Amino acid sequence: MILGIETSCDETAAALVTEGGEIRANVVSSQADLHARYGGVVPEVASRRHLELVTPVIREALAEAGATLDDVDRVAVTQGPGLIGALLVGLSAAKAIAWSRRLPLVAVDHLDGHIASLYLGPEPLEPPFLCLLASGGHTLLVDVRSHTSSEVLGTTRDDAAGEAFDKGARLLGLGYPGGREIDRLARDGDPDAYDFPVARVDGLDFSFSGLKTALLYAVRGLDEADLEACRADLAASYQRAIVRALVARVRAAAERAGRERLAIVGGVAANSELRAALPDAAAAPLALCTDNAAMIASAARYVEPTPYPRYLCLDAYASR
Ligand code: KG4
Ligand code: ZN
Repeated sequence: MILGIETSCDETAAALVTEGGEIRANVVSSQADLHARYGGVVPEVASRRHLELVTPVIREALAEAGATLDDVDRVAVTQGPGLIGALLVGLSAAKAIAWSRRLPLVAVDHLDGHIASLYLGPEPLEPPFLCLLASGGHTLLVDVRSHTSSEVLGTTRDDAAGEAFDKGARLLGLGYPGGREIDRLARDGDPDAYDFPVARVDGLDFSFSGLKTALLYAVRGLDEADLEACRADLAASYQRAIVRALVARVRAAAERAGRERLAIVGGVAANSELRAALPDAAAAPLALCTDNAAMIASAARYVEPTPYPRYLCLDAYASR
């Protein structure tokens, strides 16, 4: 079995996954409540919380799988991109466990991890496919040619799609993280109530900052009672604009790459309107869209392990 560890942002996660891609345990401890009062993740607070949680979360994953460290053949961990202090907690824990058991360690890229969420059982997707990776930190169109080869065809010029959801939620006075809140509220709103712009960017890139500004202008003149009255319409129209931008680029990228199969991964892939707007796209179950360690263990199946004890000098990286 592969023990996966993920601590790149505000989720402390551990999982046990078999070589065949079967999930035996997948434990995620979210720190969202801890960061909610600040309206976003506070990096130093996240690092400290990871430090408290990483051992209990790993223990819980082992217990859930009915396994011990004797059953672990490899330790997989997110090396980057993410918050550097947060990453270092997981990386250090992984090194310590691997070193103490003389096991190999697999350093995994978080974005490869999101894509590898699609390779988990019971119905794994096989490359090639065109993948939209949309999370709180990234928005990428990736031509996935095989388990080990891919090409980025487009990315965001400013905010990530998840960031656009989070910032929009903040302007609407909703909680953090905002994507799920907007998703929920939008169900009661009229998506045609406001005409928010979909940025026109050349090629296959995205831009979400203009949309955020448009929402800012829409809410700026409203008092609390007015905002309350049109909050659901604003959420629905704002979500519609983000989804439209994503869907248009996914279709264009698929055509450009000549791919028939589509997939969506990352936290924003949990969005109900996006999933409905791309009915032909493969998507992992909701729990595997947002950050988790099962996807990290899954990705490790396709990455060359670093043998004992060479991995002790591995460092985390904040960006790709
Ligand atoms: O992949 P993820 O858990 O973490 C990163 O790697 O960033 O993605 C988190 C992002 C947040 O911005 C969150 O607001 C967004 O995913 N998100 C959603 C939904 N659930 C989570 N966005 C839209 N609709 C959702 N249902
Ligand atoms: Zn992520």
